[in-house]
Amino acid sequence: MATQLKIKVNEREWTVAAAPETPLLYVLSNELQLHGPRFGCGLAQCGSCSVLVNGVETRSCVTPVASVQGKAVTTLEGLPAWYAAQKKLPQAPALHPVQQALIDEQAVQCGYCFNGMIIKASELLSKTPQPSEMQIRLAMNGHLCRCGTYPRILKAIQRASKAMTGVAR
Ligand code: FES
Ligand code: FES
Repeated sequence: MATQLKIKVNEREWTVAAAPETPLLYVLSNELQLHGPRFGCGLAQCGSCSVLVNGVETRSCVTPVASVQGKAVTTLEGLPAWYAAQKKLPQAPALHPVQQALIDEQAVQCGYCFNGMIIKASELLSKTPQPSEMQIRLAMNGHLCRCGTYPRILKAIQRASKAMTGVAR
């Protein structure tokens, strides 16, 4: 049964009417019109629906909306502002450095997986600013790309790390 739930998404408070067990992804897409997170498998297997919940990559397709009450949800749309807040920048850049690096490496093909790739890579670099190649591979392991762009994604994350730290990997 639908009930009134308060959730915080991209630094804004929302009140939504939804059954508590409704997947967060459905609320983001259908109620808040945030279409960065995408429905792929619906089973927490592909990563296309990922968001950050308190800075941790989370599969929104299997996350009940009620479980994120009192937490901070960040979607792709809010990622540059999330980054600016982390880095204490005076204003948000147009793109998170991971997004810019993916463009610079021309990594995107159909783009369906890239919401999750960007969210996961952003989480990784927030915790491990200079990851090794193996750390990147391990972090990105649960994100599937049927276009096979993995080598370019790896290079893009290394590029973003360099841009964010000034240190080449
Ligand atoms: S749609 Fe959520 S992990 Fe695939
Ligand atoms: S770019 Fe097509 S699924 Fe990854």
